[in-house]
Amino acid sequence: MPERLKQLIYVSTPTDDHPETLSAILASAQKHNAANGITGMLLYAEGSFLQVLEGPPEAVDATYARIQQDPRHKRTLVMSEHAVPQREFGDWRMGFHALSAADAERFPDHARWFRYGFQPEAIQAQPGLALELLRLFASGVR
Ligand SMILES: Cc1cc2nc3c(=O)[nH]c(=O)nc-3n(C[C@H](O)[C@H](O)[C@H](O)COP(=O)(O)O)c2cc1C
Repeated sequence: MPERLKQLIYVSTPTDDHPETLSAILASAQKHNAANGITGMLLYAEGSFLQVLEGPPEAVDATYARIQQDPRHKRTLVMSEHAVPQREFGDWRMGFHALSAADAERFPDHARWFRYGFQPEAIQAQPGLALELLRLFASGVR
């Protein structure tokens, strides 16, 4: 029987973007995700987060419920949520990439979606865009 999998993508606004806060978030995410069978990717751009979580549906829901309560960010908003046949970010307990001006130059066609931070309304209006942005950065980061 294939594994039942769910993929959830959300955006949020960090309440504090000190490097130490980001590393603490990542360390906690990686520890819990290893135990819970969750993989994914977290992107940071100009005062915003975009994250994908994938794994067994119950584990994804429980993890997102905890994440929503976390005071280190606010305004969590789901961009997409559905069953998937396989993991797309299976190599990462939680990959992380902080987007910079260099990324805007590297991906000029996508730069408008992250140069000034992830804009939930704009991203939501384009089905598939959130996943496309996450995929762009899913190579070469760990
Ligand atoms: C932007 C962001 C992303 C996070 N990603 C995850 C994650 O992928 N998995 C996870 O278990 N916790 C994640 N967390 C941390 C949870 O909110 C929570 O702190 C963690 O699950 C552990 O709970 P605990 O500190 O009560 O042990 C994230 C938090 C933030 C702010």
